Parts: sequence; C-alpha cells; structure tokens
Amino acid sequence: MTAQIIDGKAIAQQVRAEWKIRSDKLIAQGVTPGMAVIIVGNDPASKVYVANKVKACAELGLYSIHVEMPADTSEAALLAEVDALNKNPAIHGILVQLPLPGHLDAHKVIEAINPDKDVDGFHQMNVGALVTGETPFPSCTPYGVMVMLEKTGIQIEGKHAVVVGRSNIVGKPMALLLLHKNATVTICTSKTVDLAKHTRDADILVAAVGKPNFITGDMVKPGAVVIDVGINRNSDGKLVGDVDFASVSAVAGFLTPVPGGVGPMTITMLIANTVRAAERLSGLVKHADAE
Ligand code: GUN
Repeated sequence: MTAQIIDGKAIAQQVRAEWKIRSDKLIAQGVTPGMAVIIVGNDPASKVYVANKVKACAELGLYSIHVEMPADTSEAALLAEVDALNKNPAIHGILVQLPLPGHLDAHKVIEAINPDKDVDGFHQMNVGALVTGETPFPSCTPYGVMVMLEKTGIQIEGKHAVVVGRSNIVGKPMALLLLHKNATVTICTSKTVDLAKHTRDADILVAAVGKPNFITGDMVKPGAVVIDVGINRNSDGKLVGDVDFASVSAVAGFLTPVPGGVGPMTITMLIANTVRAAERLSGLVKHADAE
C-alpha cells in the first residue's frame, strides 16, 4: 500500500479562508481580532515559530503585538507584561512562547494569563474545560490534527486511536479530543514496553514524541491513518518528523508529511482561537455561536 499524503498546507489555507470570513465580520463591526506573542530569550526554533505566527496574523488582517524580552528577564517583569496585555482591550489572545528560560516558572506565567485570552488553551481553567469537553480554546496542534482528520473525511468514532507522547501541549489534549469524538484511545510514551504491539493496533496513530524517525513501517497497521506531529532536525540538519516517512508511507493508508503536514494547521488554529476569543470578548457573537 502507498499512503495517501494529507496536504496540511492546502487544508490550512482552506480553514484560514473560513476563519477570515468570521474575522472580517468582526472587523466590519469595528473589532479587529488582536493577538500578542511574548518570546523570552533567543531560542532559534521559537523565533521562527513566533515570526510565522505574527506573519499569519498579518496575512489575515488581524492585529498583532510581538513582545521580545531578553533571556535574563525577571519573573516580575514577565508577569507585568502579561498583566498589561490582559488589560489591553485591543488584545484578545495572549501567547507566551514555550519553552521559557530555566529560571522562569512557565506554570506561574500561564496561570497569570486571563483565561478568556488564553488562545493556547494552556491555562488550568481551559485544560479543565477540555476534560469536560467544552473548552473554547483547544490547544492548537491537537485542534489542527482534529480539523485535518475531519477535512480528510476520516472516521474517528469507534476507531482505535493511539497517541505516542504525553505532553501537555500535544499528547494529553490530543487524546481527550479524540475521546470526545468517541474514539477508543490509548496513550503511550517512548518508554512504553513493547510499544509496537500498541501502535500496530492503531487505526489512527498520532506520533508526538520528539524523536526523529521513531515510528517505523513495522510498527504500523496496514491502511492506518498516521499523523506526524514531530518537528526534528536530523544529523544533516534536515527537518524530519517522528515518523520514518519512507517505511511508513509503504504501509499506512494516510500519512501527514513533515514539513507541510501538521505544522501549517497549528498556526491556523491559533488564528481560529484568536478570532473566537475576539467574538466572545467583544460580545458581538453569542457564546453558543462562537464555536
Ligand atoms: N512551543 C511549542 N509549541 C507551542 C505552542 O503551541 N504554544 C506555545 N506557547 N509554545 C509552544
């Protein structure tokens, strides 16, 4: 079998166009959705991600603020910046790029963000809401995976979904979103004993472990849907996922590439969450419709 490649770039463009319509409606009523991104330090990968987020905002006509703080920023200074953005009426979404330098407590900083502006969906209140199934802000990467599956016409209900990775940003929220769609969900880690036994049983396999080419063809059920969330550099400096593309594409039914798979969806869903935040905070769209 040769896997059908899921074109994340094309799906992201389509979804962005859908959200642009909602955003333009707000703009026509005098509310421009606004997002603030705070980056602390000089992590090169984080800088690229943040630049792409700001660029996507501009392309869709959203307002954005890009706050760059030095690596030795104090916790008090960072919390003061978050507080100022919480109070800024032009800003509907606030995102603090992770990881933060070691001396800063990411948990404390995230909890300082107004939950109504928490477009990453990382605040405990929104994580709790995700558990009960009603969060306004699903975390962007797993949210993007769900939209990709839906737009590709992949059935989730009743299927066995295996998520490899248990991070707060991807693995855990991914498992919950799949569960809400009535998948039977197994969460594994890179340390799971006999991991291949579990992955080979997956109808939908999501790889989010951060290890280059970790999932190989012999670990995949023929015809399975394989979603690669990894973004790694191999020893040649080339961008590769957590999935060994060559061997898995010969076995899987569907596969997302890296780059051009999940990546473009993550930023798209950040835009979606920001527009939804603006709809809710402005009061121009009833909560029930701001979904
Ligand atoms: N670092 C890696 N992924 C993310 C993300 O989705 N949001 C934030 N804030 N930081 C990240």
